[in-house]
Amino acid sequence: MKAMLVTGGAGFIGSNFIHYILSHDSEISLLVNLDLLTYAGNLDNLKTVENDPRYHFVKGDIRDKDLVEKLFAEYNFDTVVHFAAESHVDRSITEPEVFLTTNVVGTQTLLDTAKRHWKVDPEDKYSREFRPGVRYLQVSTDEVYGALGATGLFTEQTPLSPNSPYSASKAGADLIVRAYHETYGMPVNITRCSNNYGPYQFPEKLIPLMIHNAQIGKPLPVYGDGMQIRDWLYVEDHCSAIYTVLKKGVPGEIYNIGGNNEKANIEIVKLLLHTMGKGEELITYVKDRPGHDRRYAIDNTKITTQLGWKPAYRFEEGMQKTIEWYLNNQKWMERVVSGEYVKFYERMYS
Ligand code: NAD
Ligand code: DAU
Repeated sequence: MKAMLVTGGAGFIGSNFIHYILSHDSEISLLVNLDLLTYAGNLDNLKTVENDPRYHFVKGDIRDKDLVEKLFAEYNFDTVVHFAAESHVDRSITEPEVFLTTNVVGTQTLLDTAKRHWKVDPEDKYSREFRPGVRYLQVSTDEVYGALGATGLFTEQTPLSPNSPYSASKAGADLIVRAYHETYGMPVNITRCSNNYGPYQFPEKLIPLMIHNAQIGKPLPVYGDGMQIRDWLYVEDHCSAIYTVLKKGVPGEIYNIGGNNEKANIEIVKLLLHTMGKGEELITYVKDRPGHDRRYAIDNTKITTQLGWKPAYRFEEGMQKTIEWYLNNQKWMERVVSGEYVKFYERMYS
């Protein structure tokens, strides 16, 4: 791994991953971050690495074929880690189209360009030979499996059954990635992680939204009965899992990522309020999200037993670090919640 293209590196997980790689990988000589800087992209997340000589930021769209081609020609990447996406379920319910173009077409643009540059003989349609050491990693999600009932876990064999336009677009992208492996022999991996939490998460998502509202004394909008279950993982553990897959993953394989931390939403909200010394009267039950998935839970047996990965953070520890981070970085939050966020919040919750 010498020259890596990271897409969506100005977002929540992408920026955490860039910090992780630049501090953990001694071989990397170049890391290019291609990010369109949509509402979710934020260069403040990368302030501490912007002068690192190995790091280079490019503002641009993964759907822009000419730009992606130019970057591959210029930087000769051997690794692609693809985070860039429209990532919020609620937005996908009101504006699905951009989810399809970014998440599906954008993925295909990256795959096609990587294939052209990485195939030993790109003109030979029957050749399955790729340059040694190249790898394309698709950052996917457990939501592609749909929803679970009260019992059971998602394994890599669980059939895809996405319920929202967001998860359907992610499932579509996964199937294209799989097809590039089956048809062309391209060395790819797909990772499917559960819900992440930690620093730099945009406050449209449950945990930073609730921390921010609690801090300013605004109601905490809990959807439906608040008993939906998510399986939470501290973002740095997701980053270490992706790094493990890049180093040890078998080409063509899918790896689920999760830390066995199932919690109901209302439990999380109450934990945040108690930790921040705020009262439960701020909790407000609101109309449920249409098609709301009831429960997600990951079986992480494959990545833990076959690749030796395990999470480093216990849930309580990760949550403590996360709350402290948001409380200590109020300027970051203030900048994020000005402008477009105000209109989004009114549209969503009024
Ligand atoms: P995010 O919304 O915080 O960040 C997405 C980033 O992609 C932003 O920086 C945005 O500017 C960029 N982007 C969007 N469209 C683009 C385009 N057309 N071209 C270039 N850049 C573009 O998302 P996140 O929560 O960090 O998620 C990152 C990835 O991880 C996504 O693919 C998501 O599906 C997946 N994932 C997220 C979670 C989670 O809990 N957040 C869990 C599992 C998987
Ligand atoms: O499981 C992985 C997925 O986790 C990722 O693929 C997505 O990109 C990421 O957004 C996340 O999806 P969720 O829909 O689970 O995350 P969100 O933070 O939007 O919501 C978490 C739970 O909290 C969900 O059950 C809905 C609920 N919720 C959320 C918000 C924003 C509320 O009750 N109130 C809220 O205001």
